[in-house]
Amino acid sequence: MTRPIVIAIDGPAASGKGTLARRLAAAFNLPYLDTGLLYRAVARRVLDRGGDPADPAASAEQARTLGRLDLERGDLRTPEVDRAASAVASIKPVRAALLDFQRRFADASGAVLDGRDIGTIVFPAADVKLFVTASLDVRAKRRHLERLAHGIDPGYDSVRAELAARDAADRARAAAPLVQAEDALLLDTSEMDADHAFTAAADLVNKVLARG
Ligand code: CDP
Repeated sequence: MTRPIVIAIDGPAASGKGTLARRLAAAFNLPYLDTGLLYRAVARRVLDRGGDPADPAASAEQARTLGRLDLERGDLRTPEVDRAASAVASIKPVRAALLDFQRRFADASGAVLDGRDIGTIVFPAADVKLFVTASLDVRAKRRHLERLAHGIDPGYDSVRAELAARDAADRARAAAPLVQAEDALLLDTSEMDADHAFTAAADLVNKVLARG
C-alpha cells in the first residue's frame, strides 16, 4: 500500500465497533483512534469542574483545551460519562473543536477511526466505510457483561434503557447525527462473535481496496 488509507467505522453504542476497529487497525497496520474517547474526555472534564455537560460554553471550553493525557484516564467509561458524552456531543462548537484533531490524526499514515460521524462528516472520502450494528438486545447483553467484568451491576434492563436513550439522542441531534453514510457497508453483528465480525469486516475491506 503506497498511499495512506482511511477506514471509517460508525454505528450505535455497544455495537462492537471499538473491538473491530482495533483489530482491523492491527491487521492493516494502521493507527487507531477511538473518537468516542474525545467526547468522553470532554464530558469528564466538565463533570470534574462541577459544570453541566449540556451547557455549550462550558463544554466547548473543555473541548478546546483537551490534552492527550485527558484521553488516558481510567474513568471515561462509567454510566455517568456515557450520558454526559452524549450531551456534549450534541453541541456544535464541541464537535468543531474536535474535528481538526481527528483529521490530523490520519495525515501521516492513514488510520482506522470509529465513532458516529466518521464516514459522514470527519472523512466523507474515506477509502472504506463500515456501519456496524447489532440488535438492541444483543448490544445491551454485551454492555451488561462489560459492566459486570468491571465489577458493576446496574442490571440488564437499566443498561438496555440507557443504550436505547443514548442511541435515540445520537440519531435525533442536529449536529452530526448518527446515520449510515450512503456509501457505507452495513455489518450486522447480532449473530456474530468478535472473531466472526473481524473476518467479515476484513473481507469487506479487502474487497473494497482490491477495487482500487
Ligand atoms: O462505546 P460506546 O459505543 O458506548 O460509545 P462511544 O463510541 O465511546 O461514544 C460515546 C458518545 O460520544 C456517543 O454516545 C456519542 O454521543 C458521542 N460520539 C459522537 O458524537 N461522535 C463520535 N464520532 C464518537 C462518539
